[in-house]
Amino acid sequence: MALYSDKVMDHFQNPRNVGKLDDADGVGEVGNAKCGDIMRMYIKVRDGVIVDCKFNTFGCGSAIATSSMATELIKGKPVEEALELSNKAVVEALDGLPAYKLHCSVLAEEAVKAAVKDYYDKNGIAYDPELFKNVENCEHCQE
Ligand code: FES
Repeated sequence: MALYSDKVMDHFQNPRNVGKLDDADGVGEVGNAKCGDIMRMYIKVRDGVIVDCKFNTFGCGSAIATSSMATELIKGKPVEEALELSNKAVVEALDGLPAYKLHCSVLAEEAVKAAVKDYYDKNGIAYDPELFKNVENCEHCQE
């Protein structure tokens, strides 16, 4: 059996929603301390719905594939639903990842959460800090 599913290979080779949103309402940057990979996620929100999102990932193929799939999964969804996106759901949508690459999918989940947190912070929207307790913006990738 191939190490990576066809979907992983597709999203790695043809990643969706790559780039930057200049007028983003929220930007999340997260890094994986172990491998040094970095992911940045941009979201545009209208009436509580993510109407557009883009990402840039400086990282491995699995990080690129999972961030691409994460953008597909949150686009058009209410912000609260995007917050519920788990790395497990992203991996399932990609038909799996090898166990030792699962940590790459965590980066995608955290990047979405960091972007939503930034959106909440910028718009003075109150939230339960518990929602973001494991999410920290990466200090190395601040502009
Ligand atoms: Fe670092 Fe995949 S090896 S995110």
